[in-house]
Amino acid sequence: MAQAGPLLSALAALLAATAAGGDAPPGKIAVVGAGIGGSAVAHFLQQHFGPRVQIDVYEKGTVGGRLATISVNKQHYESGAASFHSLSLHMQDFVKLLGLRHRREVVGRSAIFGGEHFVLEETDWYLLNLLRLWWRYGISFLRLQMWVEEVMEKFMRIYKYQAHGYAFSGVEELLYSLGESAFVNMTQRSVAESLLQVGVTQRFIDDVVSAVLRASYGQSAAMPAFAGAMALAGAQGSLWSVEGGNKLVCSGLLKLTKANVIHATVTSVTLHSTEGRALYQVGYENEMGSGSDFYDIVVIATPLHLDSSSSNFTFEGFNPPIADVQGSFQPTVVSLVHGYLNSSYFGFPDPKLFPFANILTTDFPNFFCTLDNICPVNISASFRRKQPQEAAVWRVQSPKPLFRTQLKTLFRSYYSVQTAEWQAHPLYGSRTTLPRFTLHDQLFYLNALEWAASSVEAMAVAAKNVALLAYNRWYRDLDKIDQRDLMHKVKTEL
Ligand SMILES: Cc1cc2nc3c(=O)[nH]c(=O)nc-3n(C[C@H](O)[C@H](O)[C@H](O)COP(=O)(O)OP(=O)(O)OC[C@H]3O[C@@H](n4cnc5c(N)ncnc54)[C@H](O)[C@@H]3O)c2cc1C
Ligand SMILES: *[C@@H]1O[C@H](CO)[C@@H](O)[C@H](O)[C@H]1NC(C)=O
Ligand SMILES: *[C@@H]1O[C@H](CO)[C@@H](O)[C@H](O)[C@H]1NC(C)=O
Ligand SMILES: *[C@@H]1O[C@H](CO)[C@@H](O)[C@H](O)[C@H]1NC(C)=O
Ligand SMILES: *[C@@H]1O[C@H](CO)[C@@H](O)[C@H](O)[C@H]1NC(C)=O
Repeated sequence: MAQAGPLLSALAALLAATAAGGDAPPGKIAVVGAGIGGSAVAHFLQQHFGPRVQIDVYEKGTVGGRLATISVNKQHYESGAASFHSLSLHMQDFVKLLGLRHRREVVGRSAIFGGEHFVLEETDWYLLNLLRLWWRYGISFLRLQMWVEEVMEKFMRIYKYQAHGYAFSGVEELLYSLGESAFVNMTQRSVAESLLQVGVTQRFIDDVVSAVLRASYGQSAAMPAFAGAMALAGAQGSLWSVEGGNKLVCSGLLKLTKANVIHATVTSVTLHSTEGRALYQVGYENEMGSGSDFYDIVVIATPLHLDSSSSNFTFEGFNPPIADVQGSFQPTVVSLVHGYLNSSYFGFPDPKLFPFANILTTDFPNFFCTLDNICPVNISASFRRKQPQEAAVWRVQSPKPLFRTQLKTLFRSYYSVQTAEWQAHPLYGSRTTLPRFTLHDQLFYLNALEWAASSVEAMAVAAKNVALLAYNRWYRDLDKIDQRDLMHKVKTEL
């Protein structure tokens, strides 16, 4: 890690690069965080800069970040992000590249619980099933679907732009290139406002839309329309997850990249002014004490926000200073309960007759957002979902830890409860401006995109964007950054 005279050796590399006409690849790159964002950016950086560049990935916790598992009764279960939309193209690529498999889907019915009764019951896997919804909400459902499809169709343009090597230095530029000012505005307007405008009824928003948003983000229909549309797309498509656990994608990408994973907490990034290119000193701490190392490129792949103790960085030597990143995050508690559901709570005195595996909830007055009868991360061919009258593993998602009395309400009895407390998603509305990916010449902030949409695939998209941004800036290919009218450009480019 820290060698003698890293500054000198870095300077020597820099001089060599300058002598070579500035075209030498970077020597060393630091990535802070080994979640999906950090793992994917390490992979994409290597893809662009070649196998010779050394990539150090700093991780203070465990590889995977918000992709994590907990062991219950000798099996592992997802305790963070559970599933992805089928159109998550980068994630689909990673799974193929790493020789991983999709987990077998075990069918279960969904329903939305309104506190006293179910407001919507499902006959099959898809929550937003056309026929079931038609009689109750009429045209609202179709209007919602058209709205979501239009957003998704435009969002999918990003893959084409990225395949052509285009990158964006801010979230606003990225959104503008996909859907012009309407997309940028969707980060300011609420889901409810946007849906009412296209003719979706308030009742449909209260019953269905808000339940999906609670399940995805723990937030209400007052959250911004762009992030909301992404979550609603997830409720309509088929979902998938990774056999063996979603976090295998992170460890797999890091192994494939041969990244040097350093278990330490990064505490500072300091700019050393040099002639020509910037050089960054990354300071870190672990049980062995503190240390630092020098890098040509630094990617921060974890949320930077004030009220969190999780990313306690300082930026030193930057002029103008790097502004504190505003905003806070939405806490979410995942409780994995091994026990017997109290189906009476849901109006089913006989547990054998309880038909649902996934329960969403409307805004009020529920103390939990979702309750799912979940399957382990390894699903054998003979596996079947536990029946509601059997002891099963239930995953409860709630904004706060559950009180014992609340557990006793939801479950007749239980063997164990294990919890994971997350800073899950940005608390939308807690910041007013969209952050930038570029903090300095070769210092990048991957999680900026979370402020438009926070999902595993969004972070993979951000990782590709940051890798392209670093590459295009390194080789001063400025025509590939922040271009407008890309739809036209990629059509005429071969
Ligand atoms: C309960 C829950 C359910 C979710 N469900 C879904 C879902 O179904 N589908 C979906 O797409 N998304 C879901 N998400 C969101 C998704 O998990 C995140 O958007 C995504 O995993 C974020 O990845 P990341 O790599 O950007 O950040 P993280 O996974 O948070 O990774 C950041 C890493 O950086 C490390 N780190 C932080 N500070 C430092 C430091 N100073 N030094 C060194 N290391 C540091 C952290 O330990 C962490 O490992 C869910 C999230 C939660 C919490
Ligand atoms: C976006 O908002 C701006 C300012 O509020 C407005 O001028 C513009 O017309 C809006 N664009 C769209 C497409 O709604
Ligand atoms: C679970 O699945 C992963 C990925 O396919 C595999 O590597 C692992 O051995 C499996 N574990 C068990 C206990 O079957
Ligand atoms: C974060 O940094 C501040 C100021 O340097 C310090 O007082 C605090 O203890 C740090 N917190 C953590 C969790 O490291
Ligand atoms: C189950 O739910 C019912 C109805 O809400 C409640 O009366 C009862 O106390 C709960 N707990 C148990 C253990 O049955």
